[in-house]
Amino acid sequence: MQKIDHIGIAVTDLAQAVSIYETIVGKGPERFEDISEQKVSTAFFTVGDVNIELLAATATESPIAKFIEKNGRGGIHHICLHVDDIVAKLGELKKAGFRLIHERPVMGAGGKLVAFVHPKSTDGVLLELSQ
Ligand code: CO
Repeated sequence: MQKIDHIGIAVTDLAQAVSIYETIVGKGPERFEDISEQKVSTAFFTVGDVNIELLAATATESPIAKFIEKNGRGGIHHICLHVDDIVAKLGELKKAGFRLIHERPVMGAGGKLVAFVHPKSTDGVLLELSQ
């Protein structure tokens, strides 16, 4: 693991959240992106070496809609770690007994390969790996 790539924050209203984080970060988001595979709309703010990824659901079956339904509001949803070889890392974690949401990488934001590790294996934190 070399670095944290981004911190994902679930929000109910992307435009409103963007305006809140614009004020906090002191500049606008670097980019907006819809990730249809995960049924989310995102806005990315670069803060030093790490990004803040705001995530809003685009469908009721989106994982973000389910997260908000469960906890009643938004909040920190996941932490994304950058890895050089995601397939090798997934194999390593699987072998070590981690519960993987994706056994093979899927397409994530910025055209990167990503995979999620279940919070049941990580003391309650949803982990995203990104290559
Ligand atoms: Co993410």
